[in-house]
Amino acid sequence: MKQLHAVITGISAYAPDYILTNDEISKLVDTSDEWITTRVGIKERRILKGEAIGVSFMGTKAVADVLLKTDTKPDEVEVVIFATTTPDHPFPSAASMVAEASGIKNAFCFDMQVACSGFVFGLEVASNFIKSGKYKKILLIAGDKMSSITNYSDRNTSPLFGDAVGAVMLEPTEEKVGVMDAILRTDGVGYPYLQMKAGGSKYPANHSTIDNNEHTVYQEGKVVFKYAVSSMADVSVEIVEKNNLSIDDLDWFVPHQANMRIIEAARKRLNIPKEKVMVNIQKYGNTSAGTIPMCLWEWEDKLKKGDNVILTAFGAGFSWGAIYLKWGYDTK
Ligand code: UT7
Repeated sequence: MKQLHAVITGISAYAPDYILTNDEISKLVDTSDEWITTRVGIKERRILKGEAIGVSFMGTKAVADVLLKTDTKPDEVEVVIFATTTPDHPFPSAASMVAEASGIKNAFCFDMQVACSGFVFGLEVASNFIKSGKYKKILLIAGDKMSSITNYSDRNTSPLFGDAVGAVMLEPTEEKVGVMDAILRTDGVGYPYLQMKAGGSKYPANHSTIDNNEHTVYQEGKVVFKYAVSSMADVSVEIVEKNNLSIDDLDWFVPHQANMRIIEAARKRLNIPKEKVMVNIQKYGNTSAGTIPMCLWEWEDKLKKGDNVILTAFGAGFSWGAIYLKWGYDTK
């Protein structure tokens, strides 16, 4: 039997309608459109408004479209993985909530928490389920409602994040397309530099954790910046060399969208031309696990079967990695 690969057969995403501009952020904290644009590259981000609406709402929207695009009945789905750091509740999983809302009854469902690296880690996990030969239809959902854990009185973090979720269908193929390779890494040295301190089992919620704003993202930006630049660049070069690819062989580079300067540094290290790099940070900001599927979704029409695509992400943990993907279809 030929080797099985896991191929993306459909993609969709959901970004909420509400646009939070840099000018609006400037009314909340001491910042400016000029600072955010030049230091980070973000002009606006989307925010999911409304009471009692969590990340599963966005996941369900994206999944509905993926099922439609891939002509899949809900009962055919065997696994639902939701890579998110902002599930609706600590439990049950956001994946189980999406499944229920989507009529998916024959699948096992679970969340993965790998912060901004969620999509690349999820792709490796889902890909190996497919390669085992046991599963034929897996939904990988990735993204966050970052507005639910953002402190809008902190100028260090409030301009950075937005809300969005992407979803892909993964299926087996004997063709040489799909997930070709993955290099994933974690280094717990990142713990103090990027975290949400309270709300877990170490510091459960109480009045003081709320008063101290410990249920929102804390980041030492400069340290994270340095690690993000070197880790994403190194792992991208490593996966390209390991797979004997030349830069000319690459059709697309899809970096996590946290900071335009990080994207640009990684691009230069790889020596890949700007027109091959997917960038939409200006419109959506950092949607954590959502950034990479949001890019692939926006570029779907331009992607062609057989295109060589490198995905790379970096996030809390620290966690980071790269995936070498051969795109699986031409958009009809
Ligand atoms: O997605 C997960 C991984 N996360 C990342 O990859 C993010 C990595 N880090 C970054 O992208 C950048 O470090 C930030 C965008 C978070 C910050 O940019 P920076 O260029 O590293 O700024 P900084 O933190 O070194 O601050 C420089 C100055 C400081 O003022 P002083 O001390 O030089 O007077 C800050 O207080 O900029 C100030 N500053 C701001 N000024 C206006 C920080 N935030 C703001 C702001 N508006 N929003």
